Amino acid sequence: MLTEADAAAELERLAAEIAHHNRLYHDQDAPEISDADYDALMQRNAALEARFPSLVRDDSPSRKVGATPSGPLAKVRHARPMLSLDNGFSDEDVEEFVQRVRRFLRLRDDEPVALTAEPKIDGLSCSLRYERRRLVQAATRGDGTIGEDVTPNIAFVTGVPQTLPDTAPDIFEVRGEVYMAKSDFAALNQRLLEAARAAGDERKARQFANPRNAAAGSLRQKDASVTATRPLRFIYHGWGEAAALPGDTQSAVMDALDAWGFATTPLRVRCDDVAEALAQYRRIETLRADLEYDIDGVVYKVDRLDWQERLGQIGRAPRWALAHKFPAQQAQTTLRAIDIQVGRTGKLTPVARLEPVTVGGVVVTNATLHNADEIERLGARPGDRVLIQRAGDVIPQIVENLTREEPRDAWTFPTHCPVCDSTVEREEGEVDYRCTGGLICAAQRVERLIHFCSRGALDIRGLGLQQIEDFFHDGLIHAPADIFRLTEEQLLPRKKKGDVWAANLLQAINEKRTPDPVRFLFGLGIRHVGAITARDLLRAFGTVERIAEVATAANEDPQARAEIEAISGVGPAVAEALIDFFAEPHNRVAWDDLLTEVQPLPFVNEVRQSEVSGKTVVFTGTLETMSRDEAKAQAEQLGARVSGSVSAKTDLVVAGPGAGSKEKKAKELGVRVIDEAGWVAIVTAAAGSL
Ligand code: IVH
Repeated sequence: MLTEADAAAELERLAAEIAHHNRLYHDQDAPEISDADYDALMQRNAALEARFPSLVRDDSPSRKVGATPSGPLAKVRHARPMLSLDNGFSDEDVEEFVQRVRRFLRLRDDEPVALTAEPKIDGLSCSLRYERRRLVQAATRGDGTIGEDVTPNIAFVTGVPQTLPDTAPDIFEVRGEVYMAKSDFAALNQRLLEAARAAGDERKARQFANPRNAAAGSLRQKDASVTATRPLRFIYHGWGEAAALPGDTQSAVMDALDAWGFATTPLRVRCDDVAEALAQYRRIETLRADLEYDIDGVVYKVDRLDWQERLGQIGRAPRWALAHKFPAQQAQTTLRAIDIQVGRTGKLTPVARLEPVTVGGVVVTNATLHNADEIERLGARPGDRVLIQRAGDVIPQIVENLTREEPRDAWTFPTHCPVCDSTVEREEGEVDYRCTGGLICAAQRVERLIHFCSRGALDIRGLGLQQIEDFFHDGLIHAPADIFRLTEEQLLPRKKKGDVWAANLLQAINEKRTPDPVRFLFGLGIRHVGAITARDLLRAFGTVERIAEVATAANEDPQARAEIEAISGVGPAVAEALIDFFAEPHNRVAWDDLLTEVQPLPFVNEVRQSEVSGKTVVFTGTLETMSRDEAKAQAEQLGARVSGSVSAKTDLVVAGPGAGSKEKKAKELGVRVIDEAGWVAIVTAAAGSL
């Protein structure tokens, strides 16, 4: 039986996990999981929310479209939000969709509901703004409200007219997908590989995982001359702000857009009823492999625009449209071996090595097995016949084990890390095994170093991911202390970048020899010790040296352990992780070594006096001028405690747009509720008191 507490914990995990995948997909164009796995996470989230409506989080993925852009391109606020689509997976889902439309509009049973049906193109959504019939702006979707300005880039995309005919209205936004044809994608990847080879470093060939990522990576370039070398195209599927519409049905407006010169698809049809729409779905499905672009389903839209208007939207999606997704493409093959990969955080992931097999036109040789539970569920062993599927274009998965002989020995998960041979552990209640090798496991070292130098930690400018990977592979740095021993002689011959680069980098490193203790402790990457916990620990113990001392003692002294656990914001899991970290001899060596190079400052509790000092504050809803993390940090600086839920102990609720149950509860309890502007006023007043 799933309790409410279990559900709340799972929803929190799902929100974080989905946000992570959104960032990888939207910001970095580098997804880690297949679209089907992503859909499964979203479905699980929706199912839990449907069962426990009171637990819907402010940051729930169901309330969001994509990720807020964070890259170097300028931001653009869309005149009308760019929405997402609800998904259907079966004929019944489509029938239900039309039933919902009927019920909502209170239509008679015999009233026909015409739909348009067209392919759902797997590209990057874009909005093109025309003012006085001239193209003035192009923007990506971003999070649906704020996108990125790609105006200079769009000039190089085929299918985007620069001007509209005289008959078009003064303001018109055309929306559609920028995509890369499959053949162009293959040629581009080949070109990237050859260029890397010519430069003598195949290891660094940056190839794109699929045409969608290639399109996104090519369009979202700060330097539009890069976009110019990439073959991109545009197909429209709708519109945003419009001073007037050239028709009163979806199909009539789209016919007009065809006539204005926008590229379209011959696979768009108007259907009189569900049966016709489903027939078009099947037709498109049979043509799928031969289309020049990737599609992942068919989109149906209610044809009458007055009905679309009345239907409006629910959450992030219009009520008048549905994406009918194609089922995953499947094939049978033999599982040759199960390999273990060690991730940069020490997580062990089993990978299935397969007899090569073609699925939906792509040769598949590997599939993810997720974790030990999944292997157990499948009863998978090398030699078994398995059913695999590709959904989206990323990593295929094993759906079913087709070998069912009995009796058989189960495959067992290794007890030692294949990279560093440290023991592997699974914490209670967790599905993943982890390598305990911490600072010594080669698989984890690079990630630890990157984290140590990252913005939230020591923030060493110029020492980013690529640089650290290179230094590590070339043997210049193994552990954090090595960073502080880099010399000009080592750096100078490395780069065409020259002396200024080397001198600047060494200076940036030297500036961090007396780091802020919170950043330093957080930078060590101890499990469960995030920036907030690091601050809590330092507030209690004063210096990092003292923390190390107590944590070391706590390995044998229950009183010292109790002392750590008793700190507000710290519990048994943090205490355990901290103690384990200092009990691991390799970590200890790295720590002692590091402290010969850097002297972290003592902690200074720079709490500013304010009306919220010592009070408990809850943030809910969307904050518009700052991130939730920033607001939290501000509250903590003012000596307030930030809580995730409203109770009688809450002193203040800061509610932004979309605040739901928490705001309501606060009002019921008589807790003071203010808006974001009110919060900013409190923070500003405290700054004045300094
Ligand atoms: S209509 C108001 N039609 O799919 C809804 N979207 O998963 C606007 N997409 O954000 C979308 N092909 O970028 C529509 N034929 C099509 C589409 C399509 C691809 C994208 C679109 C949307 C996403 C939702």
